[in-house]
Amino acid sequence: MVISLIGYMGCGKSHISKILSDKINFKLIDLDKEISRRNKLTIPEIFEKKGEIQFRKLEREALEEILASEENVVLSLGGGTPVYYNNMELINTSSQSIFLRASVNTLFERISKQKEKRPLIANIPDEDLPEFIAKHLFERNAFYSKAQFSVNTDARDPEDIVQEIIEKLYL
Ligand code: S3P
Repeated sequence: MVISLIGYMGCGKSHISKILSDKINFKLIDLDKEISRRNKLTIPEIFEKKGEIQFRKLEREALEEILASEENVVLSLGGGTPVYYNNMELINTSSQSIFLRASVNTLFERISKQKEKRPLIANIPDEDLPEFIAKHLFERNAFYSKAQFSVNTDARDPEDIVQEIIEKLYL
């Protein structure tokens, strides 16, 4: 069984998926790390050398393989994964999906400190970032909101968030 965590950059997918996988004793897979490992390049290097479209293809391939897994897996997706191809449909038919919701302010606070790891926002000045996030999130919410469950992550203890997720899942 696979449990997929989705949501915008900085919503806490990596952190929450680590706590969740430890608690329910599932293997943890981070889709970006998996793509990096397979291609022996960091995510910024893939964007730089191959471009975003190629990244989305590599993302789709890795997603298909992981979702076909027979193992118990908590899968932390990239912020854009649900948006491309028919990934969201595949995610929903092959896993239990959870959307980690966060406000623009929370997302800004979290990602402004780690911009260089994220090619889509690396060159956006901090003063323009809230506006960018608001618009981008609005577009992506159409996909994120297709997840089977959603939890609010604003100003909450990660342990509480994980508890709520466990109560919602069919385990
Ligand atoms: C992306 C989010 C990133 C990574 C890539 C593209 C996006 O993952 O997959 O930089 O399109 O939102 P995180 O959500 O873990 O930052």
